[in-house]
Amino acid sequence: MPSAQFDVAFDHVRQLNDHYDAATTSEGQPLRVRLKKAFLAVGCDPDSLNLDDLAGIDQLHLGGRSASRALAAMGELNGGERVLDVGCGTGGASRLLAAEYDCDVVGVDITSAFVEVATWLSKAAGLDARTRFLKADAAVVPLESDSFDVIWCQHALMNMPDAHRVLAEWRRLLSPGGRVLIHEVVAGDNREPLAFPVPWARTAGTSHLRDGEQLQRLFALAGFELDALEDVTESALAWRRERSRRESAGESAPGPVVSLPGPEQIFGEVFFTMGRNLRDNLAAGKVRILEAVWRLN
Ligand SMILES: C[S@@+](CC[C@H](N)C(=O)[O-])C[C@H]1O[C@@H](n2cnc3c(N)ncnc32)[C@H](O)[C@@H]1O
Repeated sequence: MPSAQFDVAFDHVRQLNDHYDAATTSEGQPLRVRLKKAFLAVGCDPDSLNLDDLAGIDQLHLGGRSASRALAAMGELNGGERVLDVGCGTGGASRLLAAEYDCDVVGVDITSAFVEVATWLSKAAGLDARTRFLKADAAVVPLESDSFDVIWCQHALMNMPDAHRVLAEWRRLLSPGGRVLIHEVVAGDNREPLAFPVPWARTAGTSHLRDGEQLQRLFALAGFELDALEDVTESALAWRRERSRRESAGESAPGPVVSLPGPEQIFGEVFFTMGRNLRDNLAAGKVRILEAVWRLN
């Protein structure tokens, strides 16, 4: 790679790592270590956890597990598919697809700390035989062609500046008849600047929103045919409003143990501001949320 291109790519990776793993620098301990301590502090064995224990830290998208289940239903997963979870974060959707749909899942993510946490959490949840995780850029995935039935991507394309390359990679990795299932943040009709920080970016530098039409053009150009598309902005906004209300009131997600670790353990206290800004950007029509299924032509 020519050195100018290498510098840009390196800078992009660094910016994303700085965003998603900023608290490691401020707290002086790796994310995995901090999260293990957080589980111990609420009486959970960090090496033996169930999927309910993890829901606060492994669903880094609007709507949590319900949104992932809705996407799986829209994509008509039958069970047993080979899935590539792109921008898998800490691996929540990968584990859900393994546990509830019997899928074999590979998760790829550019943030090393998330790959490390995803690997630990799958082992702790007893799902390490059906899920594995790799640190990789979605634009250059070091896996064989034709090796997946489904590409799964929740709230990650908006971090990727070069969607053409990413979609070409998806085309290469899918077997004939393969599908792409996405749950994505897109630009809304209100083109005023977003309120930052949001959960995927502290500044416009790591936010690469396209609107719904641009997204559809990108997929058509890459040789995909649209199967289904749903705008789920209203339910996402209702979910985010309720979360922000609870966060302001100092409450955690519902569940038997009220203080299970949540996203603030990953991002730090700034997460509450990110959540409120996302709520306000949604309410102002600056961003919208789409779920969609595309099929290889
Ligand atoms: C908002 S998080 C969503 C994580 C996960 N999909 C979820 O819903 O819980 C976005 C993720 O995309 C990852 N990501 C961003 N750009 C990427 C790229 N070019 N290649 C791989 N992963 C990327 C980030 O590191 C981050 O984990």
